[in-house]
Amino acid sequence: MAIRKVARLGHPVLRQVAQPIPVNEITMDPVQRLIRDLTETMVEYDGVGLAAPQIFEPLRAFVMYVPPDPDAGFPGVPLTAWINPRLTIREGNTSLGWEGCLSIPDLRGKVERPLAVEISGLGPDGAERTVRYEGFPAVVAQHEFDHLDGVVFLDRMKDMSTLTYLREYERYWHTIDEDEEG
Ligand code: NI
Repeated sequence: MAIRKVARLGHPVLRQVAQPIPVNEITMDPVQRLIRDLTETMVEYDGVGLAAPQIFEPLRAFVMYVPPDPDAGFPGVPLTAWINPRLTIREGNTSLGWEGCLSIPDLRGKVERPLAVEISGLGPDGAERTVRYEGFPAVVAQHEFDHLDGVVFLDRMKDMSTLTYLREYERYWHTIDEDEEG
């Protein structure tokens, strides 16, 4: 296992369409190592999600973990790894929320996203599953899924006037539950 370097905006790997992982390779060492490295790197940098292209692997896999917030009655999202995921929008109404990205350090911006999505795909054991995400976890799932298609949150911003450096974000815009990046 290893904490990996995170690709920064400008590296071509972040703009590629990532390739599916062959199903018969999922339980083999290289893919298992990829999932472990994604997880360790996400945890190290306090991310709520991390996609394989962000550690220079143009493959269709991402991990996510959203800690619970008992005060808000939010159960969190357990550590989850998705391989060859598919995304379906389940609630077309949108919300506008702050996003950050470990590949775009020190910046935050507001992105409009559908309120609920469903992700289907394979787990690290190779088994197919489907999970519905709502609210902030839906944002994380969409943000990470975008990375697999070479899309970053800046591309999703309809109004660039909210683009903010982290220091100014914390000074003028920060609220407790909006300080996550993937
Ligand atoms: Ni990101």
